[in-house]
Formats: sequence, structure tokens, C-alpha cells
Amino acid sequence: MAKKLPVEQEVHIDALSKDGLGAATLNERPLWVRNALPGERVQARILKRRGGQRFADGQPLADFSHKRVTSACQYFPRCAGCNLHHLAYGEQLQLKQVRLVQELQRVGVTAAGWRAPSGLTRLGYRRKARLGVRVVGEQVLVGFRESFSNRVARLDGCMTLTPRLSALLQPLKRLIANLSQPRTIAQIEMAEGDSEGAILVRHLDVLTDSDLEQWQQFANGQDVQVILQPAGYDSLQPLPGQPSVRPLSYGIAEHGLSLQFYAHQFTQVNALMNRELIRVAIGYLGDVRGRVVADLFCGIGNFSLPLARQGARVLGVEASAEAIAMAEVNARRNGLTERCYFRVADLYSALTGSDAPWGVIGDPVVSDLCPEALIIDPPRSGAGVNLEAWVGNSTLRQIVYVSCNPQSFADDALRLHRAGFQLREVGIYDMFPQTAHVETIGHFVRAPRGNSDDE
Ligand SMILES: C[S@@+](CC[C@H](N)C(=O)[O-])C[C@H]1O[C@@H](n2cnc3c(N)ncnc32)[C@H](O)[C@@H]1O
Repeated sequence: MAKKLPVEQEVHIDALSKDGLGAATLNERPLWVRNALPGERVQARILKRRGGQRFADGQPLADFSHKRVTSACQYFPRCAGCNLHHLAYGEQLQLKQVRLVQELQRVGVTAAGWRAPSGLTRLGYRRKARLGVRVVGEQVLVGFRESFSNRVARLDGCMTLTPRLSALLQPLKRLIANLSQPRTIAQIEMAEGDSEGAILVRHLDVLTDSDLEQWQQFANGQDVQVILQPAGYDSLQPLPGQPSVRPLSYGIAEHGLSLQFYAHQFTQVNALMNRELIRVAIGYLGDVRGRVVADLFCGIGNFSLPLARQGARVLGVEASAEAIAMAEVNARRNGLTERCYFRVADLYSALTGSDAPWGVIGDPVVSDLCPEALIIDPPRSGAGVNLEAWVGNSTLRQIVYVSCNPQSFADDALRLHRAGFQLREVGIYDMFPQTAHVETIGHFVRAPRGNSDDE
């Protein structure tokens, strides 16, 4: 049977999906259209069908939305690195805030106050990226994936990457094309610190001496650290002749801090918004001098160290032993070891009981700490089912919850509500402009119990 060819069809866009796609209905089935906004009529060209759903490219025909802007990026909407370049920036913020409102409505949690959405950057903010590499004939592509496809987008630069990382794209493509085995390069990860960039080169075969020499020349010429990755992250190694993989660093000037990290470790993608986030989180907690604050999912100490600098005693808990080792290095480098207690623990599986993590970590120093405040910044899946039990019978008076997923944030907000915490203020902060990613910060305070044994 002949393969179905792409179908062009005129459709009306009813809404914007959480992935930034225009939602339409075609023959009573959902159609998701990129580059389309609610209220518009678009010519939809179907690019992909999967599980009864269709995905299409959109060319607006009529009723152009007043929220539409001309994309600043020539690769939009084909490149899936971003999906909102066609939406005015103020509307992007609004869209994200509405998404959060809807999620909280879903679980029935009411916020006493809403923060105005916070967005300080629009382009050139992204200091980490994972890019695909594809050799097509003589050409090498290095870029994000294309939307609705596994193909690598044809990019010569990227406006959301920091200028320094974006400027590496073309030299990288030239270099890989010149290698004796270009197809052995499967993926490139980029990371930028304040004074140095690094790239992780995932390669599937042993690199020849002459190819290694070319990577060395690239590192020298582009002033970037090249790190080889023959397998998982535990295989990372410097180029031959280099003593070791060097950490990068970023400063948090307002707290007089410099934090080191390895290129593959988690760090917040947007430097300016990260500092804003720390400012807001610490602002919520108020005067932390002499108080104990627990920082769950603490990574390399991004929140712990500013809190310690403000005078708090901080217990940072995190699953990655490597991240905890870096948090300890960061505490030492910044003269904060006296106030920091970092511990490795799997906050999902190891602590299955109702005791709070600080009570069961199993060493007397930590078990004696009774946090008054908690900052929590979990992965997309959220803090999980134990959260309610952890905080319910604790000494905690307030919680700052930082989230990269409004759905799990809302689920956890309900858990906190059940445990006796009110959502005092909440709002989105825009860590990923031009994309549909929603990041949230919420401040919860213990609700008055109305009993004589209260507080
Ligand atoms: C969103 S990051 C936040 C890191 C840090 N707060 C920051 O701002 O850089 C989430 C962190 O959760 C950690 N993590 C993932 N699964 C975990 C688990 N099961 N238990 C504890 N930590 C975990 C990751 O290693 C990562 O450092």
C-alpha cells in the first residue's frame, strides 16, 4: 500500500498545549500544530502520525493572533530547541502562569498570593545543552532535534545558547567533518562557566591519534575544554596530555560565592535567572542567621551555600555522591564548612518511612539538627509520596519549593497542604524563555493550628 503523503489541511487553532503546540481537531481527532496560536486559521501540513494523534507544521492564513510576533530565530519552528518564538514574550510569561494556575486548581490548592512572573532574559541565556550529531553525506549536523522527528536540526548558531556556546557550533561541524571517522561522534554536550566553556564529546569508537590531535587544536583554538566520553559519565577523560578533567565555576556575586561544577553535573541553565531564584528563595526565608535549613535535592550546593553565607546552618541532601563531594568542595572554597552538613541519600527509595530525611540519615550530627525551614528542588517527578509524612510532624515552619514541573509541584502542594502548610505565595520564573518549560517557586508556611499547643 502506498505510504500516506503529508496532508495539507486548513484548521482552526482552539488552544495552546502545554508543549507550546496549537491544538486543533481534524476529522474528530486531535491535531497538534507547531507555529500556531489560538484563534488563528492555519494551513497545517501533517508531518507525523502516532497513536491516533497527528502532528503538523502550521502556516497562519487568517485571523493572525495579536499575540503573534515574528520569530527572531530563523530555525524556528523546525528546530525543537524552542517552541514559543512566535509568541510575544509577555504572553509567554502569562501562558506559563496560567498553566500553574490550572495545575493548582486541579488539586484544589489555593495560593494566598501570586508573584508577578519573573523573566530577566529572552535570548542568549542557555549555558548548557545536549546536541545531536548526524553525518548526512558530506555534511555534518550538530544541533537540537527537529520537532516531531529524530533528525538533527541544521543550525549554524543558536540564539538561546550563550553567544560563546553558539559560536562553537560552526567550528564543531567543520572539525567533525574533517575527522577520519566523523560517524563515531554521537553527541556533544556543552557547558559554560563564568570564565571557561567545556564540551563533552560522546564517541562510539576509539579516536585515532590524528583525530585526537584535531580535538586538541580545537580546544586550543576555541579556548574550550574538550572532555572525551567513550561511554557513561563515569568514563569521562581529558584529552591525552591533559592532567585531568577540570571543573568549571560560576559566581554568585551578591553572596560573594564561587561554585565549582563539572560540565556533566546538574547546574541551573540560566545564570541570571538562577541568581534571581536564589534571591527570591532567600527573601522568602527571611533572616536565617543561626537557624537550621534543610536543602533537599541540593546538587552542588546552589542554595545551600548562599543560605550558609547568610548565617544559616544548612543540611544538604542529594542522591549523587559526586554532587555532594562537589558541594563539600564548594563549602571549603568559600569558607563555609562550619555551617554546612552535606549527606548522600536517595530521597525516593532509601527513606521510605515516615521519618524526615534529616532524622534517618543515620549519623548523630545530622539527626540532632531540627530544621526550621526547608528548601526543596526536586527533579521533574517531584518530591514524592513521602513529603507529607516528612514535614507533617517536623519542626519546620516554612518551605520554599522550587520546581521544574507544574504538575508535580501541584501534587506536592496538595501533600504540603494536607500536612498543614499554606501556600503563602507562588509564581513562575522564566528559566527557559522561548520554550514551554515552566519553572515555579512557591513559599509555604505552617498554618496556625488554632490549638493551645500551637507554635
Ligand atoms: C533540579 S536539580 C536541583 C539541584 C540544586 N538544587 C541546584 O539548584 O542546582 C535536582 C537534583 O536532585 C537530585 N536527585 C535526583 N534524584 C534524587 C533522589 N532520588 N534522591 C536525592 N536526590 C536526587 C539530582 O542529582 C539533582 O542534583
